Amino acid sequence: MKELINKIAEEILLFTAGSHNDAEAFRLKYLSKKGIIPTLFDDFRLLPPEQKRETGQLLNSLKVLANEKLITLQEAVKGEEKTCCPNDLSLPGDALNRGSRHPVSLLINEICGAFMRIGYTISHGFEIEDDEHNFSLLNFAPDHPARDMQDTFFITPDLNILLRTHTSSVQAREMQKNRLPIRTISPGRVYRNEAISARSHCQFHQVEGLYIDENVSFADLKQTLLYFAREMFGEQTSIRLRPSYFPFTEPSAEMDVSCSLCEGKGCRVCKYTGWLEVLGCGMVDPNVLDAAGIDSEKYTGFAFGIGVERMAMLKYGVNDIRLYFENDIRFLKQFSSIY
Ligand code: PHE
Repeated sequence: MKELINKIAEEILLFTAGSHNDAEAFRLKYLSKKGIIPTLFDDFRLLPPEQKRETGQLLNSLKVLANEKLITLQEAVKGEEKTCCPNDLSLPGDALNRGSRHPVSLLINEICGAFMRIGYTISHGFEIEDDEHNFSLLNFAPDHPARDMQDTFFITPDLNILLRTHTSSVQAREMQKNRLPIRTISPGRVYRNEAISARSHCQFHQVEGLYIDENVSFADLKQTLLYFAREMFGEQTSIRLRPSYFPFTEPSAEMDVSCSLCEGKGCRVCKYTGWLEVLGCGMVDPNVLDAAGIDSEKYTGFAFGIGVERMAMLKYGVNDIRLYFENDIRFLKQFSSIY
């Protein structure tokens, strides 16, 4: 079989193509389903194990060689076909397919822009995190049921290394740096082991915010969020906070904005409530400050977390989260005029 492979390699090297048809003939002969190389791979499976290693390597190189040759042949005939056609200057030009930003990137930029205008910096962390930064430093006790809420993808069997479930892990890292005051937002991708449906996905994006200084109050949080809601949904927007629970904030709240589509009158998007749920927030739990080595007697702070896809669905009237991950150009193109 080795000799056969060498012989075919020589044949491939010597092959020349004068037209598109020749290049296609090459592809059919060597690379198509019933072509020589796939057939050799079939025969290879029957070889005795001691011959497999060496022959396998040869066979793989042959395949690479043939693929490269095909590209060279196709390139060569492309040029030839062009030069043999007369240049008709009256023909319409080739339409250029202009790229556009992904709607999730657009919204992340918009959210970051709103916070940068009021003095926030941007911080990034790691998508692969450890338990400490994703959970322990954020006041999740080892047996805390809230760990289940997060549907974590673990990487190591000891459950120590994982895919981050929120970008609060970046905030844990920022707090550990102990450079106060902190005023930062952390955009990024997060992962949760959830069934994929129109409303939830196993990967999505968050922008989380953190503000720590002396005398930061719940009123500061409310005013900051009202500013943000109006930047995102328009000047007329109002907000409401409902009590909620997160291990790392106390008190915690869920923020709704008045539905910008029906102006609070009630429609399908807001399920006739007039309100849209957009983020979770609260005052940073003193335990979290202490764990990061920040004096919780002196400093207070607030944090909030925004689900980007969710917010994009509300803002752009998209009813299926999966559309953001399928890369269907017909969907993505609709956002090309936004920025
Ligand atoms: N980390 C929370 C989540 O992913 C969101 C959040 C951030 C809530 C900050 C409160 C404060 O669900």
